[in-house]
Amino acid sequence: MYHLGKISYLTFPIHLLFIVILLLEVFLDLRVDCLSFTYPSFTKENENDFITTDHSYIAFNAIQVTGDARGASITNLSGRIWYSQPLNLWNRKKNITTSFNSTFVINIKPESDPSGEELAFILTKESGPDSIPNNSYGQWLGIVNASTNGSSTSNIFAVEFDTRKSYLDDLDDNHVGIDINSINPVNQVSLTDRGVNLSRAIDVIASVRYDGESKILKVYTFMTNQTGDNERNPIISMPLDLSSFLSEDVLVGFSASTGIYNQLNCIKAWNFTSTEIGNDHKVSLLWLWILIPIISVLVIFLGGVCLYFISRKKKERMQVLDQDENIEIQIQNSANAPQRFQLKDLKRATGNFDPKNILGRGGCGVVFKGLLADHNKEVAVKKFFKDSSQGAKDLIAEVTTIGNLHHKNLVKLIGWCYESNELLVVYEFMPNGSLDRLIFCEEKGEIRGRLRLNWERRHGIICGIAQALDYLHNGCQKRVLHRDIKASNIMLDSEFNAQLGDFGLARTVQVNGKTHHSTKEIAGTIGYMAPESFHIGRATVETDVFAFGVLVLEVACGRKPGKQNEENGYSNRVIECVWDMYKIGRIIDAIDVKLEREFDEEQAECVLILGLACCHPNPYERPSMKTALQILTGESVLPNIPTERPAFVWPVRAQSTNKAAGDSLQEGQLTQITVLSGR
Ligand SMILES: *[C@@H]1O[C@H](CO)[C@@H](O)[C@H](O)[C@H]1NC(C)=O
Ligand SMILES: *[C@@H]1O[C@H](CO)[C@@H](O)[C@H](O)[C@H]1NC(C)=O
Ligand SMILES: *[C@@H]1O[C@H](CO)[C@@H](O)[C@H](O)[C@H]1NC(C)=O
Repeated sequence: MYHLGKISYLTFPIHLLFIVILLLEVFLDLRVDCLSFTYPSFTKENENDFITTDHSYIAFNAIQVTGDARGASITNLSGRIWYSQPLNLWNRKKNITTSFNSTFVINIKPESDPSGEELAFILTKESGPDSIPNNSYGQWLGIVNASTNGSSTSNIFAVEFDTRKSYLDDLDDNHVGIDINSINPVNQVSLTDRGVNLSRAIDVIASVRYDGESKILKVYTFMTNQTGDNERNPIISMPLDLSSFLSEDVLVGFSASTGIYNQLNCIKAWNFTSTEIGNDHKVSLLWLWILIPIISVLVIFLGGVCLYFISRKKKERMQVLDQDENIEIQIQNSANAPQRFQLKDLKRATGNFDPKNILGRGGCGVVFKGLLADHNKEVAVKKFFKDSSQGAKDLIAEVTTIGNLHHKNLVKLIGWCYESNELLVVYEFMPNGSLDRLIFCEEKGEIRGRLRLNWERRHGIICGIAQALDYLHNGCQKRVLHRDIKASNIMLDSEFNAQLGDFGLARTVQVNGKTHHSTKEIAGTIGYMAPESFHIGRATVETDVFAFGVLVLEVACGRKPGKQNEENGYSNRVIECVWDMYKIGRIIDAIDVKLEREFDEEQAECVLILGLACCHPNPYERPSMKTALQILTGESVLPNIPTERPAFVWPVRAQSTNKAAGDSLQEGQLTQITVLSGR
């Protein structure tokens, strides 16, 4: 289908071109080709082929040059009739003249005794129906009048067939003469000697032949029954340069006149042929033939280029549409499809993504504060970075993952949007912002922030996140690994309840153990990454637990995790620091000094030791989230951790004694191949 379209695209301009060439040829041919026509007789329909003056028309199958005998008087008349297409007689630039033959059948019927006046074959400059001199009847033969006789402006050449001697110089009443701008012939020959009588109402054949090369004019005149000598021998043969007194383009035709004596001047048949003289039109036609192939090639080339770009554009658009549909389908297929927003609504909500409304920047996008107009509800709008298909994958992960999760400690997803290549996710707005800002804000000298995050609130946050992670790992239909637990991904609502967000890296794990491909990418944030993740290169529940441990220490101590280094077994500063305190039995001193010792010491010690247990270099030694939660609520006892921080050993081995009760190996844990859905 597509291929057919392509062919017709390509062939269309070619077809068009050929049509244009054809039309041009037809048009130019009419203009330039030699003038030739044949009328064996004349009918009324042929009248359109001729230009006629007042008294000339076609009747009785003949041209009546000075009217007919239909009752009206034909005394003192003159008339002309021309073929409507001009003859290109000569070419000034090329200095060539056409050759032509004009053969016609004359029939002159006397209407008085004697008859008069004359009939002539003429060449004139191009002119209209009224271009006959006034009072050119009688002796003026319809070619000049008293004032234009002898003037070069008359621009007329005539071969007269005279039936009346009307003035002194006129030869007789039956002769042929050659007239140039005057009724006084430059050459005249009597027909009487040849046995030709013009005015007897019988057909007389006359032929005017001009050779443009030798510039010789010949006139033949003979009766239909006269063959032989008369037909072969011209009555007049003379050198004559028509171009010396005629214009380049002329009209060919007849003129006739009557006087006080009159006659019917009829032409019963006419054949005209001429040679083609290559004129300017022809030259331009030659150029056309050179230019047309060049233009054709250009048009085809440009057409091809256009086609290429059009099809590429189309392909791109199809791809975008495909992706669009994909995202739509994937999201709509997820059980609890969140609301789909329109880009214009989100633009309005965020003041067209005003930088003033930026709440924070993440690994894959920027978060803006927004106000939904129709609900008057505050929201956080995450706008994914435009580049790469990664954004789309993150969006799908985020929307489909959280869309299906419902827990008081998970950020609530309100909706999403994918339009004009923009990926957006809409969350509930958290008035207290992200946790990291509150913990570390005293570094920026904000006293109020420190006060707001007292021990109870910190403990509540830790418990909340533990509940959320326990829900993700053990509580929901499909096990979900968050893979990016850190302070900046934890949002605080107005009551300082923690809500875990940013599921851009989160992946679900098939609980039924069906093997899909597992990911080799290392995801997460430096400082929160378990040492073994650099070796196994994938996420497990244990790596989530490790990150949780770092988060616990961070919240309790008010310290940033610091960077990890290989020498210390990929440990980080906060872990080393707290473990050192634990070693000397003063772990409680690790608690954030900004709390000014206002905290439940027993609870604080429990939190710190749990944090260390979660950060155990050996993943098998870390408690599960379930156990961690039980420890926090006092339902389970603290695990024993060594006073000396154990070194990280690879490969790890399960030592297995210290593990808290109730754990059994499950999918997504280190000992089993983690099965990931998604990428
Ligand atoms: C025709 O012309 C001649 C000479 O010009 C004139 O004497 C005569 O009266 C004219 N005849 C008519 C009918 O007009
Ligand atoms: C005119 O007629 C003569 C004789 O038949 C012929 O040789 C010549 O080629 C013709 N010229 C044209 C232009 O038709
Ligand atoms: C017409 O003009 C020619 C000059 O070209 C002249 O010789 C002749 O006498 C004129 N004829 C008449 C009837 O005036």
